[in-house]
Amino acid sequence: MRPSELTEMHFRVLLRRIMFDSLLHPIHAERIAPRAVRFSVTSKAARAALPSFALEREPTEKEHIRASSCRTRPTFSQVEGRQRVTIAHEQGTSYYGTGEVAGPLLRNGRRIVCWNSDHPFYSVDEESLYQSHPWVLAVRADGSAFGVLADTTYRCTVDLTDGILFEADGPPYPVIIIEGDSPQGVLRTLADLTGHMQMPPKWALGFQQCRWSYYPESRVREIADEFRKRRIPCDVIWMDIHYMHGYRIFTFDPEHFPEPKALNDYLHERGFKATWMIDPGVKHDPGYTIYEEGTAGDHWVKTPDGEPYVGDVWPGPCVFPDFTREETAAWWGELYKPFLDTGIDGVWNDMNEPSVFTSPTKLMPEECVHRGMGGDTHDRFHNVYGMLMVRASLAGILKAQPDKRPFLLTRSNYIGGHRYAATWTGDNASTWPHLRMSTPMVLNFGLSGQPFVGPDIGGFGENADATMFGRWVGIGALYPFSRAHTAEGTEDHEPWVFGPETEKTCRVAIERRYRLIPYIYTCFHEAASIGLPIMRPLFFADPADPALRDEDEAFLLGADLLVVTQPHPEPTRTPARPNGNWRKLLLDDVVDPELPELFLRGGAILPVGPLMQFVDEKPLDPLTLVICLDENGEAAGDLYEDAGDGFGFRNGEYRLSRYTAKQEADGVTIQRETVEGEFAVPPRRLHVRVLMDSGELTVDADDNGHPVRVPFA
Ligand code: GLC
Repeated sequence: MRPSELTEMHFRVLLRRIMFDSLLHPIHAERIAPRAVRFSVTSKAARAALPSFALEREPTEKEHIRASSCRTRPTFSQVEGRQRVTIAHEQGTSYYGTGEVAGPLLRNGRRIVCWNSDHPFYSVDEESLYQSHPWVLAVRADGSAFGVLADTTYRCTVDLTDGILFEADGPPYPVIIIEGDSPQGVLRTLADLTGHMQMPPKWALGFQQCRWSYYPESRVREIADEFRKRRIPCDVIWMDIHYMHGYRIFTFDPEHFPEPKALNDYLHERGFKATWMIDPGVKHDPGYTIYEEGTAGDHWVKTPDGEPYVGDVWPGPCVFPDFTREETAAWWGELYKPFLDTGIDGVWNDMNEPSVFTSPTKLMPEECVHRGMGGDTHDRFHNVYGMLMVRASLAGILKAQPDKRPFLLTRSNYIGGHRYAATWTGDNASTWPHLRMSTPMVLNFGLSGQPFVGPDIGGFGENADATMFGRWVGIGALYPFSRAHTAEGTEDHEPWVFGPETEKTCRVAIERRYRLIPYIYTCFHEAASIGLPIMRPLFFADPADPALRDEDEAFLLGADLLVVTQPHPEPTRTPARPNGNWRKLLLDDVVDPELPELFLRGGAILPVGPLMQFVDEKPLDPLTLVICLDENGEAAGDLYEDAGDGFGFRNGEYRLSRYTAKQEADGVTIQRETVEGEFAVPPRRLHVRVLMDSGELTVDADDNGHPVRVPFA
C-alpha cells in the first residue's frame, strides 16, 4: 500500500468518526489569547489537529469556553471529504488579507486557492501565487474588525464571494478567530500569535539593485560604480543565478566569478552590501560535493518508491532537501558558513515552492514523501516547503554569523513565515497593470502579517518604458522592501538607461527614501515590536470611513505619511484621502510631477535625515523634524535609533525618543523625552520645520534635550 493511499483511508475513517462525533458534541472553542479563540469541529478534532506552522508556538494559556459566547463563530461542515468553514457575511464588512494576491486591495467577491505556485507574469485574478496565507481580515461597517485563520497547510480554497469560506484538503483543521476594536488591533494579536518580524540590518532598508543576472563580476562592479558616480543612493547589489558554477548552489563560476571575496570587498569598500541567491534544487551530479554530501546524509525528498525525487530546475535534473527532517535542516544550515565567509551579506532563497520545470503541475508531485515531522506526503508539506527552507537557512546564517542581523529574502512562504524572511511579489511584468497591482499586493501582504515586502520595481518580465520606470521607482522607493529587478533577456533596467529625465526622477525618488530612513526604520521597529504593518491601507486612518476601504492608489507609510501615487500613464482619477489635517510635504528641492505626492498627518512629527548615498554613510546630523500640528495645536512623533546591526538592541542598546510639539500664543515649543533604551546618541543639530497655514516656520537648534522654541515672528 502506498503511503498516500494509507493517508487517504485514514482520513476517511477519521472524518466519518468526527462527523458522527459532531452530532453529539458541540464545536470545541478555546481562548488562546485575550481576544483570540481557536475553534475545532469537535473536541476530538481539536486533540487530533496537526501541529500548527502558523503559530510561533503552541499557546500555553488556554481556556475552554462556550463557542456560543463568541461574537464571531464559524460553521463547520463537510463537502466531499473536505472540511468547510464558513462565516456569514454581515452588511458593510470589507475583506482583506489572503496573503499574496494579485488584483485589488478589497477582496470581497474574490476566490483564491492557497497552493504555492510559480506563476510568472500572473494575471489580476490568478488563483494561486507563490505563498499561502489562509487568513482573512474583516473590517465591519463600524470599523471594528476580526480575522480568521484556517490553521491548515493543505491546499485550501478561500472564497469571499458570500461571507468567508475556507475549504481544505486533509484532515479537519482548527480556525482561529481574532477580534479587535480596529484592524490594527487584530493585526497586533495576529503578530503575537504568529510571531514578530525580526529587526533587519539597517542597510536592508536601502535601495537595492538586481537583475537576472549581473555577470561577469566586472559588470557588478560597473553597476556599483555607476550608482556612486551618478549620485543615486543604493545599498545593495544582488547576485542572481549566473554567479554559480553551472547553477550548482553554494559554488562560484570559476570563469565569471573567480574571486567572490574580492568582489564583495570591492562592494563593501564603496558602501554596498551584496546579496547572493540560493535555490533549493541541488544538481543531480555525482561528484558535486553538495550532491554527494546530501546523498550520503539521505537528505532528499523521496518518491513513493523510496528513491530520491528528481525534477528539473535551472541546472537540469535536481534533488530537493527534505527540510522537514531535523538532520537535513541542520546540514543545510551548515552550508552557509563557507558561503558567507566570502563576505556575502544577504541571502536570497528562490524557486522554493518548489518549482519544478518538468513536472506536469510545475511543482513537486503531491505523492512525494517527507520523512520528518512524523512523515507524510508532500500535499501536507507543500505550502510550507519554502517556509521550512528559510527556517533552516536562517538558523544556518545565524549560526555562521551570530553577531550580525541576517537578511534573507524568500519567494515562497506560508503565514507566519515573516519570522524568517522578507519577501517580494514574485515574477511580475513591466506593464502598467503590474505597476498598479504592486501597491495593493504589498498592502495585503502587510494585512496578512508580512510587513517586509516589495515588488520587482520596474517589472521583471518585458521591457519598461521610461515613464513607467520612473513612476515605479517613485512609488517603489516608498515600499518597505525597495529593489529593482528584471529578467534575463530584457534590456538594461537601471535608473540611468532611460534618459536624463527619468534618471533625475529616480534619483529624487531614491533620495526621498534615504531622507526618510529615520522614519522608515522607526516603522520597522514598530512592526518588529508590536506587529503593525509598515505600509498600511488608507482605512487605517479611519476604519469606519467607507470611502477609504478600497483605495489601491494611495497608501500610508507608518501612521503619519500619506503617499498618493499615479500608476496610470495619464491621470484618470483622484485617490481618496482620509479626513483630517494632512499637509503636503516637500522633501526635495525639485518638484517632480512624476513622483507620488506626500502628505503629513495633522498631529505628526516626522524625523528626516540628511541625504546619504547609502544607509549610515553619515551620522543622523542634523535631524530634521517636520511638524504638522493637529486642530489642538499639538503634534508628536517617535524616533527609533540603534547600532543598525547586531543584537545590542535586545539588551537596551537602542533609543526610542518621543518628540512633542505644542502651539502657544507666540510660537511652538518642541520637547524630547526618551521613552525607552540606553543607546548613546552623539550630540547633533536639530532642524525644525513647522508646516502652518501661513507657510513654514523653521529654526535650528541643538538636540540636547532642552525645549526648542519656534517663534511665530
Ligand atoms: C525566478 C525568480 C527571479 C529570478 C529568476 C532567476 O524567476 O523569481 O527573481 O531572477 O528565477 O534566478
